[in-house]
Amino acid sequence: DWDAAGIIDDQVRAIRERVGDSQVICGLSGGVDSAVAAALVHRAIGDQLTCVFVDHGLLRKGEAEQVRHDFVAATGIRLIAEDASEDFLSALKGVSEPERKRKIIGEKFIRTFEKAQRQVIEEAGRTGSEVRFLVQGTLYPDVVESGGGDGAANIKSHHNVGGLPKDLKFELIEPLRTLFKDEVRAIGTQLGLPDEIVWRQPFPGPGLGIRIVGEITRERLDVLREADAIVREELTRAGLDRDIWQCPVVLLADVHSVGVQGDERTYGMPIVLRPVSSEDAMTADWSRIPYDVLATISTRITNECRDVNRVVLDVTSKPPATIEWE
Ligand code: XMP
Repeated sequence: DWDAAGIIDDQVRAIRERVGDSQVICGLSGGVDSAVAAALVHRAIGDQLTCVFVDHGLLRKGEAEQVRHDFVAATGIRLIAEDASEDFLSALKGVSEPERKRKIIGEKFIRTFEKAQRQVIEEAGRTGSEVRFLVQGTLYPDVVESGGGDGAANIKSHHNVGGLPKDLKFELIEPLRTLFKDEVRAIGTQLGLPDEIVWRQPFPGPGLGIRIVGEITRERLDVLREADAIVREELTRAGLDRDIWQCPVVLLADVHSVGVQGDERTYGMPIVLRPVSSEDAMTADWSRIPYDVLATISTRITNECRDVNRVVLDVTSKPPATIEWE
């Protein structure tokens, strides 16, 4: 029988032994894996762990707060949060090509993380201790996909924007390396993490940045963030969260869709709903969401989101379409 408490005990013992009185850093992405890895290491070594969270301004509504407050409240972890949204937005100004967006976001992310890392190293130095380890939330499928070697998640490297610099200065702690996603969730629950973190659906590292087809601006982000929040709220209300793998909400920012509101002809932006079911994101099918749920979502988005006058549903499987639009 699989035993979450037993695995936690074994890991806690192993981590304590390995770390000794060194300091440890862990980057939090807001996702399940890094959160559970951090909580597990924290259980083992407490304040010898410092977590770093980079807020790139491309997160969903409430997500930065969830990491900064809920996660810290649930775990007592010491956290350095870098709010770098200004910095990211200005670097992304005028950019609409998807791979360039990814590259800019990925590079900025690493630079920002390194800045926080230096801060941790300096602070540790003042207390006469050394930062030797970096925690990563690598799972068993990542290990297998990269050929069982040590460079975890190579295949998905272009997807690993939420990941961390491969810094040779550090030895890696990968406490989830033998586990599957459902096991990681069980461990997260056993460690007392809230369901909103443990059951979070996959979300790309570059965040809403790759869900605005066109240039990323603060105004467009605000519109998309609102629409995305409505979709999440209604899917949760309908009890569909665990049936759906993820549901990207996409803003077609450069399309001028004609609408009529009151007596007026309007030009607005369409919002695309992309609910998918999947086992591993390699292939996917579009989710058959009940019509009444779609109707509620559509009405709310067109009523509540400025400059949106049309909501459309993506009914394409993967392949041929990818899950994300960019
Ligand atoms: P696609 O769009 O390739 O997505 O079918 C497959 C899975 O990967 C996620 N995704 C990303 N994750 N950085 C990430 O961390 C990225 O640049 C990225 N692009 C796609 C996507 O959300 C889906 O779960």
